[in-house]
Amino acid sequence: MSLTIIKGTILSAPAFGKLEVTENGFLIAENGKITGVFPVLPEAYAGAPVEDFGDALVLQTMADLHLHAPQYPMLGTGMDRPLLEWLDTYAFPTEARFSDPGYAREIYSRLAGELIAGGTTRVCMFSSLHREGTLILMEELEKAGVTGYVGKVNMDRNGGKNLQETTEESISETLRWLEECQDFRQIRPILTPRFIPSCTNGLMEFLGRLAKERELPAQSHLSENTGEIQLVASLHPDCRQYWECYAKYGLWNDRTIMAHCVWSDERERQAMAEAGVTAVHCADSNQNICSGVAPVRVMMQEGVKVALGSDIAGGDRLNMFDVAAASIRASKARRILDNLQTDFLTVLEAWYLATSSGAAYFGEKPGFAPGNSLHAMVLADDSLPQPHPLTPQERLERAIYLRQPSAIRALWSDGVRRF
Ligand code: GUN
Ligand code: FE
Repeated sequence: MSLTIIKGTILSAPAFGKLEVTENGFLIAENGKITGVFPVLPEAYAGAPVEDFGDALVLQTMADLHLHAPQYPMLGTGMDRPLLEWLDTYAFPTEARFSDPGYAREIYSRLAGELIAGGTTRVCMFSSLHREGTLILMEELEKAGVTGYVGKVNMDRNGGKNLQETTEESISETLRWLEECQDFRQIRPILTPRFIPSCTNGLMEFLGRLAKERELPAQSHLSENTGEIQLVASLHPDCRQYWECYAKYGLWNDRTIMAHCVWSDERERQAMAEAGVTAVHCADSNQNICSGVAPVRVMMQEGVKVALGSDIAGGDRLNMFDVAAASIRASKARRILDNLQTDFLTVLEAWYLATSSGAAYFGEKPGFAPGNSLHAMVLADDSLPQPHPLTPQERLERAIYLRQPSAIRALWSDGVRRF
């Protein structure tokens, strides 16, 4: 049996907008599963080794529910075009390079390392359309200790010369990829039609059938940009709204992840709430490529499941603390656009979305609940100046907006200490 006892100022997000604080507390896990958080070491563990991090914060790790691994090399560049032009000009040529397995290995090992170093241990990730590159991505993530889902992207139209499959290739490569990734444990496959403009009806039919037969989850993009929405309407005149194009093929259920949903109106949001679809809010990306400002707090109030995504490289930040701060700023922009009639996200609300809400997609209960697998990190803030002695909540707020160099001192992913 393995036993982990972590001592520090333990903070967790047990509900939207709520903070649980245990100062000088003990976070205990046995065989990688959380036993509980205790203000005093229980008698049963007397004499057991304790990893004491003093006054440092012990936090849940982050979940990034939408990002594009093969766009990592273009991070911080190419922010001057709207979505459809941005894809053709920057994203597709960048992804095309991942036909080279050596290049994929080099880039993906760096990406996996940066995720773990930044406190992200759960992901839902897009690879490129390349089967081999996707397997390399899964390997590198698993090696680094990142858990979650990765999808080989399906795209059999509108990808241009260098980033497109035939329908037959897309089908056979997807089936082969599913065969070849069966031995991964921490990283599982997720079906990934890029978005409606990238996939013919025949391919969508195949993916819908496959999802049902093999009980696979699916991820894609929804209502990100007005030009995209118009294009989708012209491709599927039988669908009243964008989401119906996914629903038509059976890719609309409680294991479906939809990135963005910036322009989803009340009816589309209702469809998400009813089906249990998770909407992934990507505030940095939506601003960088001028997509819009998603009504993220309204979605929450309407009962839509919401998580956060970095959406690199539309988003320019891989770090989920930064992404949480961006979602707060975006919600304030939304409030201004709504004539101050809607509420902005509080720090605790955004933090819940980045942690517990993302983890819920993987079947976890909120916070450091007993039975959850141990995903935790230790964050130091001792070298930052203090205006006055800060409360634990103030320290968390500052950590979202500002961190000292190498702030994360230790991290556990799925029960295993990674550094
Ligand atoms: N829609 C389809 N593909 C993409 C992508 O790579 N990034 C973003 N932001 N939106 C997309
Ligand atoms: Fe995206």
